[in-house]
Amino acid sequence: MNGMQGDDTRDGVSRDMYAETRGAASSRTGGETRDTRRETGSRARWPFPELAPAVHGGVDEGELRSQGIDPAAIVDFSSNQSPLGAAPSARTAAAGAVLDAYPDRNAEGLVAALAERHGVAAEQVVAGNGSTELIRLIAQITLLPDDAALSLAPSFGEYQVGTRLARARFEEVRLEPAADVSTSSGRSFVYDHERFAAAIARLRPRLCWICSPNNPTGAVVPPDDLERSLRDFPDTLFVLDEAYCDLLSGAQWTSATLDLGNLLVLRSMTKLWGLAGLRLGYAIANAGVADALRRAKPPWNVNACAQAAGLAVLCEDDRHADAVDLLRRGRDELATAIAALGFPVFGSAAGFFLIEVGDPAAARRVLLEHGCLIRDCTSFGLPDHVRVSPRHPEQNRRLIEGFAALAGSMRAGATS
Ligand SMILES: Cc1ncc(COP(=O)(O)O)c(C=O)c1O
Repeated sequence: MNGMQGDDTRDGVSRDMYAETRGAASSRTGGETRDTRRETGSRARWPFPELAPAVHGGVDEGELRSQGIDPAAIVDFSSNQSPLGAAPSARTAAAGAVLDAYPDRNAEGLVAALAERHGVAAEQVVAGNGSTELIRLIAQITLLPDDAALSLAPSFGEYQVGTRLARARFEEVRLEPAADVSTSSGRSFVYDHERFAAAIARLRPRLCWICSPNNPTGAVVPPDDLERSLRDFPDTLFVLDEAYCDLLSGAQWTSATLDLGNLLVLRSMTKLWGLAGLRLGYAIANAGVADALRRAKPPWNVNACAQAAGLAVLCEDDRHADAVDLLRRGRDELATAIAALGFPVFGSAAGFFLIEVGDPAAARRVLLEHGCLIRDCTSFGLPDHVRVSPRHPEQNRRLIEGFAALAGSMRAGATS
């Protein structure tokens, strides 16, 4: 509802009274008419949601400059992108896009190519301005005020923001690390189906956010468990966020799983396809769910450059495979080297992985001194951990040197 109309009395003044008293609330100061209510009362006057923006990785140029650090000298291990960056063909395609006409409002050419790639009908695919836009839209069209939306935790912060924007309740099933002998920490975050299913049965959420592999833990939800949830809870829409599925060897869903009618898959083209600056993502669902999303999204939500670059990178499978290879090898080499320095490292099915450092803010500071930006995971509710994502091999060596310096400074701190 528009906050200027109707009978909402949240601020103790009905909207109609507000219209009448608006003149009285204005005061004259130094010849200017000032609306004092406009300046002081906006929080009380409109039902703005109480929101804390999600924390994200990536380079914050202002923050670095304020610390006297040149952002250009920093290697970013904190965000999870392709070490190879955008393909030259994507740059050429974006540069050639038509700027002075509206783009196709549903990105139909790109959607058709994506549908063919996934073996689904074009009506089952919806393109978005990054998958973050689609997360917001899904929450908006699915949730009613006071509905519950359930997420595995720790996980991507935008699920909470999207849920709260829809005025719904955000609930979490927190997963704890379990024993895993294949990692130096001896632990990994593991999906626990019994706990998750019990929470769904208790809370009856209209929406479940499932990130697999999960950001930041790298844990996967086994496809059989996902299918059990889809069948056991047909009134819940499950959003499977596959932003980081590139390193998985098998598929997490099939057309038959989509046919169950309560699964929506999210993909991002900003990570391993290297289009973060252009913003591009998409949803795949059965035709009914996809249609609802398509009707709700803004027209022209994917700009002409992103549509052109998206189509171009779909012809870059070799480059994508190279990026996957770099990430897999980089993850394994980094994990081994950092573990050898004495830091407990966690297993991950994605390129990024978690490292226990004790004081993540201090670790981030030390690593920044070595030109490496890492992700402090405190905002995920992991006050002892940082997350890193591999880059090129020579850049990864710089990260290992940074961790060696961190180990040294921790030893010095312990003995001083
Ligand atoms: C799990 C997950 N999903 C979605 C996104 C958003 O991706 P996009 O850039 O496509 O909006 C991110 C970005 O960090 C993410 O970590």
